[in-house]
Amino acid sequence: MLINNDTIVKDNDPLMRTKSEPVKLPLSVEDKNILMDMYNYVKDSIDPELSEERNLRAAVGISAIQIGIPKRMTVIRLTDIDKNDNEILYEFCLVNPKIISSSLQKAYLQSGEGCLSVIEEHEGYVVRSARVTVEAYDALQDKHIRIRARGFLAIVLQHELDHFEGTLFYDHINKDEPFKEIENALII
Ligand code: CO
Repeated sequence: MLINNDTIVKDNDPLMRTKSEPVKLPLSVEDKNILMDMYNYVKDSIDPELSEERNLRAAVGISAIQIGIPKRMTVIRLTDIDKNDNEILYEFCLVNPKIISSSLQKAYLQSGEGCLSVIEEHEGYVVRSARVTVEAYDALQDKHIRIRARGFLAIVLQHELDHFEGTLFYDHINKDEPFKEIENALII
């Protein structure tokens, strides 16, 4: 499946507001291929040459609904700093991921969020939980996993899982005061 900046479903399409369906396990060949195409997209999108050549927009995550498939599948691939200040590459091909717990403490990205499906800029703090625990089947490791995420990874997980519910990042921005300070929030 060809995935590029032109084929990705945008937020003016009502599809982006629909709910995605759970995926049957074990994965069908078709679903495996969809995940692989999504994985290749996020991986190639951060390569300047490939992204130029194939009209890709840099991304740390993509959900199936963004390529027109309303299934609970998402791929996340990003580099972050772990607890010991080491750089670590996180990559997942998640199927039916579910947040099983989330911190009361909030967090947001200082520079706001972006999304492959959103062209217009939406300024403001996208307030989320600072830490989440997610359970899912990970097709990359071929097993059920539990992710205890904090910081940037926690934000990206919440952003992608929101797509399953038809929620977009700017829904979380305070309409009256987009840059309202949040007490005790972790600023990333
Ligand atoms: Co998005």
